[in-house]
Amino acid sequence: MPYDVFISFKNSDANGVPTKDSEVATELFRALTERNINTFFSKTILLEQGAAAYKAAIESALDEAKVLVAVATDVDYINSEWVSYERESFHNDILSGRKKNACIVPYLQNIHNLDVPRSLRNYQTFQVDASPVAEVAEFIKNFLHGVRMTGGGTDPERDGDVSLVTGRHLSTYSAGTREEFKRLKIQSDNTREADLNALGYVTDNLGHTDGLRILDMGCAYGFVTKDRFSRYPDATVLGLDRGEELIRFAQENNTFAGVHYEVFNLESETFEEDLEALMDKYGIGEFDVIFASLVLHHLKNPQKLLRRVRRYLSRTGYIVIRGSDDGSILACNDDGLIQKILDLHLNADGISDRLNGRKIYSQLISSGYKNVVMKSWIKDLSGLTLDERNDVFFERFSYRKNYLRKLVEQDPYDEKKRTDLKNIVMYLNELENKFDDDTFWYCEIDFIGIAQKR
Ligand SMILES: C[S@@+](CC[C@H](N)C(=O)[O-])C[C@H]1O[C@@H](n2cnc3c(N)ncnc32)[C@H](O)[C@@H]1O
Repeated sequence: MPYDVFISFKNSDANGVPTKDSEVATELFRALTERNINTFFSKTILLEQGAAAYKAAIESALDEAKVLVAVATDVDYINSEWVSYERESFHNDILSGRKKNACIVPYLQNIHNLDVPRSLRNYQTFQVDASPVAEVAEFIKNFLHGVRMTGGGTDPERDGDVSLVTGRHLSTYSAGTREEFKRLKIQSDNTREADLNALGYVTDNLGHTDGLRILDMGCAYGFVTKDRFSRYPDATVLGLDRGEELIRFAQENNTFAGVHYEVFNLESETFEEDLEALMDKYGIGEFDVIFASLVLHHLKNPQKLLRRVRRYLSRTGYIVIRGSDDGSILACNDDGLIQKILDLHLNADGISDRLNGRKIYSQLISSGYKNVVMKSWIKDLSGLTLDERNDVFFERFSYRKNYLRKLVEQDPYDEKKRTDLKNIVMYLNELENKFDDDTFWYCEIDFIGIAQKR
């Protein structure tokens, strides 16, 4: 099994006496192992494999690991030959893009800021005397969890990191946080009417609801999948998402007769082979309905997916694509807060294509579909209870600060990014109060494109 974590430390001092670093590293190794994190720890490897295999083992562990923990309690140790080599080569792999979704965790003591090597300065640092090993181990566990949620960054299709739609850095979205879990659940409820209306159009045209073969691309935790598709008798439903833990949740909690949830990368180079293998596995010849809600705007090249999946849609079947569009937002009595929030959010690097709703029509046409019908569904605050209004705030606005927070975490010394984050948090707090004010009104539109293959 490949290593997830590499612990880098100086084992013994000039007299061959074990260092304090070695003690800290041993404790950390134990804490990581207790959490089932596969950790490269040179002391055990040396004992198990002997000196000859030692160097090769270090090189391959450095290649595999997603996290390097730099343990040091003495400035001489952090600058010692092997420790520097391990840290600098890992850091260079991150900088060059060879390692994606990786980080270094400095775990330090007695090292003055000015003596901290440049390669460690931008990472979140833990102090040995202030943070017990368990805290560092939990941080690493959460980091690795996040990497797995987003597919691990091993996908050559996403290399280059630029969206072909927005020309900006690819969406850094991850559904794998507690907040997103809750938000996706609320969003599933708030978009039910829009989807049922669109699916009603599809089944009216198909002339039946029995035995439908349905593909749900980017199904996340399966909230929408179960809610929309468990209604159809004898359906076979394939829900796909790249997040392993999302799929595991769906398999355990959102199952129903005929559904199969599978880990799948919609942008993979082997998309066709992978999908055909699953279709064979579940006895699906072609799909009557291919569905995706709020997924295309996260992809590097949404049209490529639309083109690729077209061949698996039956001649009489329908593709149904739901998107949203920040340009459709209107508000009254918000004191201009929404515009200020959108300005900050839409200019942040790493956001998805927030203006995707308006593009669905032409994306479908130019990817080989015909009979395109756009359904639109207006959500507004009128008639909602206070709790429902607060849910709308949570679903539509609150999360927008997270992208700016990520940018600050990546670049903690950038003054502008810090100010932008501070401002968006302030505007969001003020807007949250508006949702409690009955005179404040807001609306936005969900857009659903429905089409058949040409
Ligand atoms: C905003 S969520 C929408 C989830 C669900 N369709 C819904 O409406 O609640 C976007 C989902 O797309 C998934 N996703 C993004 N890019 C993907 C890719 N390349 N392959 C598979 N899933 C992807 C994410 O993991 C996430 O679960």
